Amino acid sequence: MCGIVGVVGRVDAAPRLLEALRRLEYRGYDSAGIATLVNGHIERRRAEGKLINLEHVLDRHALPGTTGIGHTRWATHGAPTERNAHPHGTTRVSVVHNGIIENHAELRAELEAEGVVFETETDTETVARLLDHHLAAGATPEGATSATLKRLNGAFGLAMIFAGHGRKMIAARRGSPLAVGYGEEEMFVGSDALALAPLTRRIAYMEEGDWAVVTDSGAQFFDAEDRKVERAVKLTAFSGAAVGKGNYRHFMEKELHEHPVVLGDTLRQYIDPSSRAAVLPELPFDPAVVPRLTLSACGSAYLAAQVGRYWFEQIARIPVDSDIASELRYREPVVPKGGAAVMVSQSGETADTLAALRLLKQLGQKVLSVVNVDESSMARESDGKVLTVAGPEIGVASTKAFTAQLAVLACLALGFGRARGVLSAEDEARLTAALLEVPAHAAALLENGEDIQDLAREVVQARDVLFLGRGSLYPIALEGALKLKELSYIHAEGYAAGEMKHGPIALIDPAVPVIALCPSGPLFEKTASNLQEAAARGGRIMVFTDAIGAPSLRRFAERVVVLPTVDPFVAPILHAIPVQLLAYHVAVLKGTDVDQPRNLAKAVTVE
Ligand code: F6R
Repeated sequence: MCGIVGVVGRVDAAPRLLEALRRLEYRGYDSAGIATLVNGHIERRRAEGKLINLEHVLDRHALPGTTGIGHTRWATHGAPTERNAHPHGTTRVSVVHNGIIENHAELRAELEAEGVVFETETDTETVARLLDHHLAAGATPEGATSATLKRLNGAFGLAMIFAGHGRKMIAARRGSPLAVGYGEEEMFVGSDALALAPLTRRIAYMEEGDWAVVTDSGAQFFDAEDRKVERAVKLTAFSGAAVGKGNYRHFMEKELHEHPVVLGDTLRQYIDPSSRAAVLPELPFDPAVVPRLTLSACGSAYLAAQVGRYWFEQIARIPVDSDIASELRYREPVVPKGGAAVMVSQSGETADTLAALRLLKQLGQKVLSVVNVDESSMARESDGKVLTVAGPEIGVASTKAFTAQLAVLACLALGFGRARGVLSAEDEARLTAALLEVPAHAAALLENGEDIQDLAREVVQARDVLFLGRGSLYPIALEGALKLKELSYIHAEGYAAGEMKHGPIALIDPAVPVIALCPSGPLFEKTASNLQEAAARGGRIMVFTDAIGAPSLRRFAERVVVLPTVDPFVAPILHAIPVQLLAYHVAVLKGTDVDQPRNLAKAVTVE
């Protein structure tokens, strides 16, 4: 995913574009660039690597002009070099692009056959060259845009400026989100409302297939058939302050400390504290009769869905299928008539999850999305949505959004259980009470994090780490391994504790820390005995448990981190926090880039 931004205004565009790109850098940080119109001509500055490199270039070679576009790149086609950095263009037009032009090779061949010479390997350059082709033949920017868009297959958010058209920018969206911001005698375009937060809170979201002519006095929207359309201007909830780091070193650290508030806000939406009942949002299907749920997502969101699977089965007795979205979409899934799907996503833009959503809808499933970004593609394309109340998440590794997803899935499981007549009012009251206590436990855990920092000092020395868990804590073991890998680049694997002796136990040696999630509860004895098997073979056991489980584990574990004692139902939510914290501290000790780990981007809007 890349971040794009544009401004048509009356003061220098470059500083505002840079500021907006800073807020978009979480979307990609392989290279960055800006182009503006200077006396009717297009000028650009670009740099490989992080935005700071572009800032240095701009310090040396200032860029005037009040109309401009900017881009921060997550490379797909072409290496992350300055040459391949956006904006791309010609003397007539300059383009920034988020997404993938799938038929770029065909378009490139067609244009090359006409003698056009390309400068880069990027798919985006084909858009610029096509636009240029029409402009050279005398088309207006609007005419060239309309003709070009009709030739493009794939996903894109585009912003374009045109030589000789000083106060004009054209934006287009298909597949990739794009927001148009309204200022005072200035207008903006951005990949998300967050980027525009300090500039304006008045936003119109472009719809699928839309393109818009943006001038300093407003925007005219067109649909995919070039018909003039109106798009409502809304006030976003984002303020500039909501997207700062505050007093924290990293966004991730700030977001980890937001767990208690986010969990509280999310649970308050879906639990009535007086009746101790789950409050279901409007659903596109009847949970009392739905024959099967298909859960799908990517990455950490998929692991949240995996925990959801345990809950929907145990509490609501609903048959559940769950799959990674990139697999589900090519698996030719068999789904029942009248079935429903639950998609889980922080961004609501992950390409594979979105494609799986569309497939499941085609297959006749009613789709409910658990999303953090209202107005996202998934929120808009689903039959129903349940919002997590996590606020903006900027750190590339998901933290508070993950536990908020768990909180929502837990409430849905309770509501579905009641609707199906398999969860008594007393059990529902007991379980909602357990959920409502989680924010306070999370706060206590975050205040007493020294044990986790000590553990991090051990883990940072390892080359490989194993995470173990059972039942609904198995996906949290996977989450621990995923976070450690992506943040610290230490190899880690998550396993179901019972699966150890079917292979992974061969890895056990004193150089491989085994980190286990083993709180008291029905699966405690089983997990503890798997850990003893590993300890007996020289494994170094480090456990997260509670005050009840700690004494027996201390007999063989090298380190025991004691977490608050909670109902086993909510243990996955609480245990997610220390495994994320552990990965954070290890990454800080290793000195890796915590908020922007190498090769990653916050939302993966390409397949
Ligand atoms: C890992 C992480 C990713 C995301 C995944 C899905 O820490 O953040 O694995 O969970 O890319 O993203 P969303 O939730 O936006 O669909």
